[in-house]
Amino acid sequence: MVLRELRWTDIEELAALEREVFPQDAWAEPTWWAELAGRPHRDYVVEEDQHGIAGYAGLNLGGETADVMTIAVATRAQGRGLGRSLIDALVERARRDGAEYRILEVRGDNAAARGLYEKAGFELLTTRRRYYQPGDVDAHIMRRTLRGETP
Ligand SMILES: CC(C)(COP(=O)(O)OP(=O)(O)OC[C@H]1O[C@@H](n2cnc3c(N)ncnc32)[C@H](O)[C@@H]1OP(=O)(O)O)[C@@H](O)C(=O)NCCC(=O)NCCS
Repeated sequence: MVLRELRWTDIEELAALEREVFPQDAWAEPTWWAELAGRPHRDYVVEEDQHGIAGYAGLNLGGETADVMTIAVATRAQGRGLGRSLIDALVERARRDGAEYRILEVRGDNAAARGLYEKAGFELLTTRRRYYQPGDVDAHIMRRTLRGETP
């Protein structure tokens, strides 16, 4: 596995992976172009294996709070610790940027993502009832405090 910065040449592959892992609300290529154009505040990393991009994740930086924009692992690579290594990479990048907190939003029905975030030290901050429509699914806002943590 190789962890590296997102490049514009990854966009087509990322859009295809989005359709695989977020079939309801995949980011299409124009969204990825906009995210890349948002640098340096937007900060994305990808993990590559012998088949190509196996996972990716990104942050919005620049203030006391770093927001997780997205995180995903290709179906073929899930359950092997890649999500955890991506979230750890984001924590390190947020800390380097001076963020005191990391915030994210996750669907209440996404057990895998909630398990990952809890393991990575995020705590439930608040719940937005029936935020995701259709389906009446709650949004869970989770936070990890970086201030005072030793790297
Ligand atoms: C959520 C996701 C990124 C996790 O990535 P992953 O590489 O499979 O996760 P890891 O192997 O690193 O697992 C880390 C922890 O997450 C939790 N976890 C992972 N898969 C899980 C599952 N299916 N059910 C419950 N918990 C799960 C566990 O706590 C796990 O720790 P453990 O293995 O010590 O029990 C991946 O499932 C994914 O891409 N899902 C589709 C996209 C998505 O939902 N993204 C998040 C949007 S908020």
